[in-house]
Amino acid sequence: MTNADFEKIVETSDEWIRTRTGIKERRFAEDDVAVSDLAVEACKNAIKSSGLKNEDIDLLVCGTVTPDYRLPSAACIIQEKMDLPNAVAFDIVSACTGFINGLSVAASFIETGQYKNVLVVGAEKLTSIMNFTDRNTCVLFGDGAGAAVLTGSDDGSGILSTFLRSNGKYRELLWIPDGGTAKPIDEGYTFDGSDKVVMNGADVFKIAVKQMCDSAVRVVKDAGIDSEQIGLIIPHQANIRIIEAIAKRLKVSMDKVFVNIEKYGNTSAASIPIALDEAYEQGRIKDGDYILMVAFGGGLIWGSALMRW
Ligand code: ACO
Repeated sequence: MTNADFEKIVETSDEWIRTRTGIKERRFAEDDVAVSDLAVEACKNAIKSSGLKNEDIDLLVCGTVTPDYRLPSAACIIQEKMDLPNAVAFDIVSACTGFINGLSVAASFIETGQYKNVLVVGAEKLTSIMNFTDRNTCVLFGDGAGAAVLTGSDDGSGILSTFLRSNGKYRELLWIPDGGTAKPIDEGYTFDGSDKVVMNGADVFKIAVKQMCDSAVRVVKDAGIDSEQIGLIIPHQANIRIIEAIAKRLKVSMDKVFVNIEKYGNTSAASIPIALDEAYEQGRIKDGDYILMVAFGGGLIWGSALMRW
């Protein structure tokens, strides 16, 4: 779906979307594709490139705000479709930080020895919660999935530090007001867009820049490295201007920042694992590199992870 396609459905322009967000196009899943279908493709590829077998996976964590059903979790559906006989599977609902939170959970379980091989997937069908009459939000998002397998090692590689925070005081800046138990959609409900994503973009932007910068700085410090040592920054792909602000604050040049927002838009929990995979495929990540990942999303919630590849 290109910016030109959006010009036909809301009052917008390719120029506005490109200059304000960096997005040129995004991918939309077909109507009969559920989020688990997207996730399964990513999970299969991740397990294949890990060299492990399905039976080796003992934990599956799925970051998503767009599960197939309200009950059960998307993770349980993915487990069934993938056939992961020895795993426990659950979702993490933390919007765009879903993958970072998943990595943190995975690393912690591996460190305690409770689980050995953890599959973390970020998957979203954001088209299912987008208001296609609201130009403030509908041009920003896309569908997608990305996954990674984590396993224990003692060679100094892996997740070195993570930092996670949230503040529910800001929940109304980015939320879906209606359709949950606080405001159910029952008989007589009038659909006015409140059952879809509603966002105060300018306020989210300001808080995102501050908290993503602070948490990026924090995780670098906690890992005991300097920002000059960072090999690649993989930020959540929400807005090119937010990404540039993080690079500036860390005094890291943009050639050390991975950007693919122009192709996918904001895919929420899927954005970092999709970018991680593309960065690896493009040869931008080498053994021993320090990789900084940082995200921000509805909650509001934010977090970062510093990984040695
Ligand atoms: N096309 C044309 N004009 C538009 C569009 C559009 N698609 N959308 C908004 N505008 C207009 C607005 O109506 C406003 O017009 P007005 O001044 O006449 O009222 C004007 O453009 C400027 O609006 P702003 O909101 O001030 O624009 P801003 O420069 O802040 O950019 C944006 C908007 C891109 C949404 C930005 O605020 C942003 O990226 N915010 C952060 C979003 C984000 O990071 N979300 C993260 C998490 S997402 C998740 O968790 C799922």
